[in-house]
Amino acid sequence: MERTFLMVKPDGVQRGLIGKIIARLEDKGFKMVAGKLVQVSQEQAKRHYAEHEGKDFYDNLVNFITSGPVFAMVWEGDDIIALSRMLMGKTNVKEAQPGTIRGDYASHTPHNLIHGSDSPESSAREIANFFEAHELVEYDKTISPWT
Ligand code: TYD
Ligand code: MG
Repeated sequence: MERTFLMVKPDGVQRGLIGKIIARLEDKGFKMVAGKLVQVSQEQAKRHYAEHEGKDFYDNLVNFITSGPVFAMVWEGDDIIALSRMLMGKTNVKEAQPGTIRGDYASHTPHNLIHGSDSPESSAREIANFFEAHELVEYDKTISPWT
């Protein structure tokens, strides 16, 4: 079982899309183990996007992610890192296919609604940047044998 850090970005919160985005993940059969609204600080944003430091879009990205509250989450499921990125769709909204979260709801890069970790290493780092260990809830969720 794998964990990933998923975050509805400020555009998704402002547009009232938290529920729809969570529904996509629930419908897929994944399990939320933590979730909260966060006003991201500059320092936290820079840690989160450290891999992009120095790139031309970095300053805009940090400004965007700190511009309003985000909904930060930890989700669990088999191969969830790769599968949740498929549900999200491509980074560039011009390439995001209909049927994906970005393809269906986002019309402007970088306002692409959702962040998702891209590897087990970034997942662990990103979860630790937003959550204390005790905030991750362990519980049984009945999942049918066919999911
Ligand atoms: P990245 O980690 O490459 O994409 P993803 O969110 O799909 O993992 O980039 C982080 C964010 O930075 C991305 O969601 C949107 C923004 N961005 C740009 O504005 N311009 C770019 O050229 C890239 C690659 C990303
Ligand atoms: Mg990324």
